[in-house]
Amino acid sequence: MKKIAVGCDHGGIVLKPAVVAALEALGAEVVDFGTYDESSVDYPVYGLKVAEAVASGECDAGVLMCGTGIGISISANKVKGIRAAVTTNVFMAEMTKRHNNANIIALGGRVITPEEAQDIVKAWYNAEYEGGRHQKRLDMIADIENKYFK
Ligand code: RB5
Repeated sequence: MKKIAVGCDHGGIVLKPAVVAALEALGAEVVDFGTYDESSVDYPVYGLKVAEAVASGECDAGVLMCGTGIGISISANKVKGIRAAVTTNVFMAEMTKRHNNANIIALGGRVITPEEAQDIVKAWYNAEYEGGRHQKRLDMIADIENKYFK
């Protein structure tokens, strides 16, 4: 991974500086799709921006943040090709890359600390997708997309 899209709402913005710093320390180029202050905004806007950047290939992967990570991940997962995973600890972050090849992780600003977010981002970024038996399952997810998405 090299070019990473980040996006958040007001509930997730508390994590964004730490996440950007962690990504840059890993050597990633970060593209920040907002939001940029603590004014109340609607998380689907930012979930969509980051998901479209990843699905189009403009960015290699993404990190989303809202209060829980849930609403913004649900939004991103409505974009074909996106596998956005809420991760609340390092184990989930590593496993969702190794098994699900998550191209977006979603974090909760009201759930984890900025320091925990940095550890999670590092674990996800550094882990490698294992392929093999897991690819069959990702293909099955793609089949569901093809059945129900335009
Ligand atoms: C905003 O108050 C909050 O609902 C949002 O950040 C997120 O937690 C939704 O899933």
